[in-house]
Amino acid sequence: MLFLGIETSCDETAAALVEQTGEGKRLRILANVVASQAEIHREWGGVVPELASRQHVRDICGVVERALEQGQVTLDAVDGIAVTQGPGLVGSLLVGLSFAKSLAAARDIPLVPVHHLAGHIESLFLHNGELPLPSVVLVVSGGHTSLYLVPTAGVYMLLGRTRDDAAGEAYDKVARLLGLGYPGGPAIDRLAQHGNDRAVTLPLARITHRDRNAPGAAGTRDFSYSGLKTAVLRYVEHRKTQGGWPLPEAGLADLCASFQRVVVESLLDRLFDAAHAHGAASVGVAGGVSANSRLRADVVARGQRERLQVFIPSLALSTDNAAMIAAAGIRRYAAGVRAGADLNADASLNL
Ligand code: KG4
Ligand code: ZN
Repeated sequence: MLFLGIETSCDETAAALVEQTGEGKRLRILANVVASQAEIHREWGGVVPELASRQHVRDICGVVERALEQGQVTLDAVDGIAVTQGPGLVGSLLVGLSFAKSLAAARDIPLVPVHHLAGHIESLFLHNGELPLPSVVLVVSGGHTSLYLVPTAGVYMLLGRTRDDAAGEAYDKVARLLGLGYPGGPAIDRLAQHGNDRAVTLPLARITHRDRNAPGAAGTRDFSYSGLKTAVLRYVEHRKTQGGWPLPEAGLADLCASFQRVVVESLLDRLFDAAHAHGAASVGVAGGVSANSRLRADVVARGQRERLQVFIPSLALSTDNAAMIAAAGIRRYAAGVRAGADLNADASLNL
């Protein structure tokens, strides 16, 4: 069975072909094409929604054609289409969704809606095969920082999430503050490699109380990054008044390394605490920030220390892509999920 995945939730136009083969039902990626809009949004220091949707319109046909070329197949070989329904920027989502609906109708093949974060979680299964379950998975990206329990394949139970900024958003905002450009994650990651991660003391809020806005949720495994961003801002302002600005190269590296240490430790503390509390057989980290070199190294080291198997996606499957959407779509298709022509985008879709 061959699925075409389509992803346009933010600033990447992506199409991929994923095939499920044989008895083991292993997944194989035939094509994975991503057209990034980073160049367009860099000028503005972040994603501009209207520019993003317009660029998706320009790119979507070419990206799907390139995926077919890369996979060396024609549309006749495609058995179904998986598309990101939400969450994301509604104008961006609508481009992929309308394209997928039209193509599914024209070819008379099934259409399967996918939650973007289910896609990130499934990137772990796509890259590593079936994980030992139950697993606790941290999805950490520009828009989300959420912890899920996966008791059986295809079931995702929310254990905690950020109350304010996502970790990737904190990376992007701090990078902007330091004049490092957009997206900020890779730039801070690179600089931090030459810095002293204890040079600057940065506090991090530890959430231990229930969320007044979500009384149903326990909330004690929630994250918070807006205070950390403010702490970096205060540090920069202090340096400016003391005449210590711009920071010399080494000082900038120290600040990036110190920020990164706090972020990574806070993410991993909650991930491993939750894994032990739920008797997990494995842990996973997915989403754009899982491309971070320190997060990747530290989660593996900590897994060895705490005797938990650790799973991370390849770098290509960490940041937004459509292969993960196709993989999630294949799982949902097997569970009987189908969408009709009335399918609509949902900017704040729940998982
Ligand atoms: O999953 P993703 O591609 O898009 C969303 O769903 O948001 O994640 C993008 C986020 C951005 O905030 C970007 O700065 C961050 O992932 N990111 C990184 C790294 N590479 C991308 N953050 C830290 N270190 C990296 N190497
Ligand atoms: Zn994402």
